[in-house]
Amino acid sequence: MTQPARPYRSVLYIPGSKERALEKATSLPTDAIIFDLEDAVAPEEKSAARTLLTQVLAERGYGRRARIVRINSFDTPWGLADAEAMAMAMARGARIDALLIPKVSRAADLDPVAEAVPGVTLWAMMETCAGMLNAAEIAGHPRLGGMVMGTNDLAKELNSRSSPDRLAMQAGLGLCLLAARAHGLVIIDGVYNAFRDEEGLRAECEQGRDMGFDGKTLIHPAQLAIANAAFAPSKVEIDLARRQIAAFNEVAAQGGGVAVVDGRIVENLHVVTAQATLAKVQAIAALAE
Ligand code: COA
Ligand code: MG
Repeated sequence: MTQPARPYRSVLYIPGSKERALEKATSLPTDAIIFDLEDAVAPEEKSAARTLLTQVLAERGYGRRARIVRINSFDTPWGLADAEAMAMAMARGARIDALLIPKVSRAADLDPVAEAVPGVTLWAMMETCAGMLNAAEIAGHPRLGGMVMGTNDLAKELNSRSSPDRLAMQAGLGLCLLAARAHGLVIIDGVYNAFRDEEGLRAECEQGRDMGFDGKTLIHPAQLAIANAAFAPSKVEIDLARRQIAAFNEVAAQGGGVAVVDGRIVENLHVVTAQATLAKVQAIAALAE
């Protein structure tokens, strides 16, 4: 599968109730924002947060950052009202790139939202054990554009303990990655709770990147630079990609199909990956313009 055209290295949650954080995000270097109406907002604040977010989305410029709204589940008293408010906001011209649906356990969980808000792309929170087991079916939903790992909820359901290697998460992370890539979806890793622990965050970003995630969900602005760096191609990777493409083209011009760079073979499939690396660099640069 090809890389998504838009970078999603950093995907910052912002509580929909926090005016100051909503304002601050207009200038933060985040690739995408999840405006949260769900777990970051207390029950007594739900209604006010919905109204505030509707205004904010209509009035504020968030530049090229992707705008994702996490609504409450349709099993709660707030989900339908959230979806209807976002549909209304979009009808009035607000740009919402996706609605993120919590605790998706089956593809059919997406249908009521798809019906209530026609046209908008849906993303799924992958955070229940049933969701892990049904990841392939969920990924195949025709309106789905992305998956977000909800590792805190998954750990709660699993009754697992956290460790730096995230051993307990590996099965779920892997199933969702396979499902997302099989269906050409964006997939974002879960949050790192200890938001002042830079080394721990860096290690977890690098693990997620090496597994294949497009980026990491974040909870605090202090986490942005680390995720942006970890999920961007490094200078060494960019240089290698350029040399692989050049070497392969040279061999191909003489009718060959295998080049060698730094003692390793380069076939057509490696060239596709190298081209995706360079496309990602361009997409990141375009975001900063
Ligand atoms: N998005 C945008 N701005 C944020 C932010 C976020 N997620 N978290 C904090 N900020 C801002 C604060 O408004 C503050 O701005 P200011 O200094 O200009 O006034 C600045 O960053 C520093 O914040 P700080 O004082 O260090 O953090 P805090 O103690 O106010 O808040 C948290 C810490 C974790 C409570 C807060 O970051 C938060 O609510 N994060 C999101 C949690 C969430 O969304 N959870 C659901 C998904 S798991
Ligand atoms: Mg959750």
